Amino acid sequence: MSTAQSTYSKGLEGVIAAQTEMSFINGSEGILEYVGIAIGDLASQSSFEETVFLLWNKRLPTAEELGAFTTDLRANYGLCDSLKARITACPADAEPMHVIRTMISSMAMDDSSPNENSVEAAREKSLQILATAPAIVAAFDRHRRGLEIIDPDPSLNFAGNFLYMLNGEKPTPAMIRAFDICMITHADHGLNNSTFAARVVISTLSDVYSAITAAVGSLRGPLHGGANEGVMKMLNQIPDVEGAEEHVMNMIKNKERIMGFGHRVYKSKDPRASELMTLAKQLAEDTGNMDLYNKSHAIELVMEREYASKGIYPNVDFYSATTYHCIGLKLDLFTPMFVLARIAGWAGHVIEQLGDNRLFRPTTDYVGPHDVAYVPIEKR
Ligand code: ACO
Repeated sequence: MSTAQSTYSKGLEGVIAAQTEMSFINGSEGILEYVGIAIGDLASQSSFEETVFLLWNKRLPTAEELGAFTTDLRANYGLCDSLKARITACPADAEPMHVIRTMISSMAMDDSSPNENSVEAAREKSLQILATAPAIVAAFDRHRRGLEIIDPDPSLNFAGNFLYMLNGEKPTPAMIRAFDICMITHADHGLNNSTFAARVVISTLSDVYSAITAAVGSLRGPLHGGANEGVMKMLNQIPDVEGAEEHVMNMIKNKERIMGFGHRVYKSKDPRASELMTLAKQLAEDTGNMDLYNKSHAIELVMEREYASKGIYPNVDFYSATTYHCIGLKLDLFTPMFVLARIAGWAGHVIEQLGDNRLFRPTTDYVGPHDVAYVPIEKR
């Protein structure tokens, strides 16, 4: 006897669990808009800072508002001494995703009122987490390489400052812009798994740090944000463009999932993949990585032939792998890059949830037995 009161949808497919004014997705037509603005227009004309303001305020800022928001963000770029000490106490062989998840969680201990959940307080904590996360990733990467931690440069934008803190040298304007576009395209995406995790946690009126920490834990899974690292591993296994077809066909024969393809919502090409494909090609040309881009494109062509009829196309993770490689990032920093951008979306959803909260508490459909006699342990 089932006790479910409504239809069961495995993986919650098609279930509407929240209302949002942030991103709109039409999966069959491949449309993604942030607050009504096409992702392509934002990628070509906006900045990550402006995109965050848009998502958090549901409108584009005036020049003055953008200036004030940017100033606030830059004022929070640095690491406090206690956070720095915790980062340098991490083992050098720790995975960066475990480090960033743990450090964001630990930031609650540096906050004198970590549990304050007014919308205004949530905005302040979100800004702090967003501004600090790049410094956490850069500091840990330098710590594990035995290098000095580099202080932020508030004259640089979010993208430029991160690359500077990571590499110790000022990035080129082209690199900064490429990274900025990656941040814009990864900023928000409806009620994806990690965003849902964040909304579920904040709906208990827990705290912003717990909500973002849960989201980081969700994102690292290989079926979600961890797929960009899976894509790069696959590309590394393919010796050259000629080997792409055989490699992919073998994976298909062995019923392996091809990382960077398929999406719960998109049944056509993910518009972010189209943006990142153009970016990856340009960067590959500029950095002498055309072999990598050509392998990626060859995989896409095989997958289109084999899987397009099933609605399986490249997703955001596919070309972000080539893009991040061309920017010079190490493989295990790919998913942390997704974190840096998606904090914008997670925080925006936390703010939305707090503005009109109701506890998330779905039900299960119990499919086990009833009226089972209790057998004492000595008689089992
Ligand atoms: N390669 C091969 N087959 C695939 C793939 C893939 N990448 N994606 C889906 N399929 C197949 C499944 O094997 C399944 O086939 P079947 O019906 O014959 O058993 C069918 O398509 C449906 O798969 P589901 O997992 O039920 O579909 P779901 O909607 O849950 O899939 C998911 C979404 C998990 C993203 C899936 O496409 C996948 O595993 N992709 C690879 C991992 C990946 O790239 N993740 C990143 C997604 S974007 C993001 O999270 C940022």
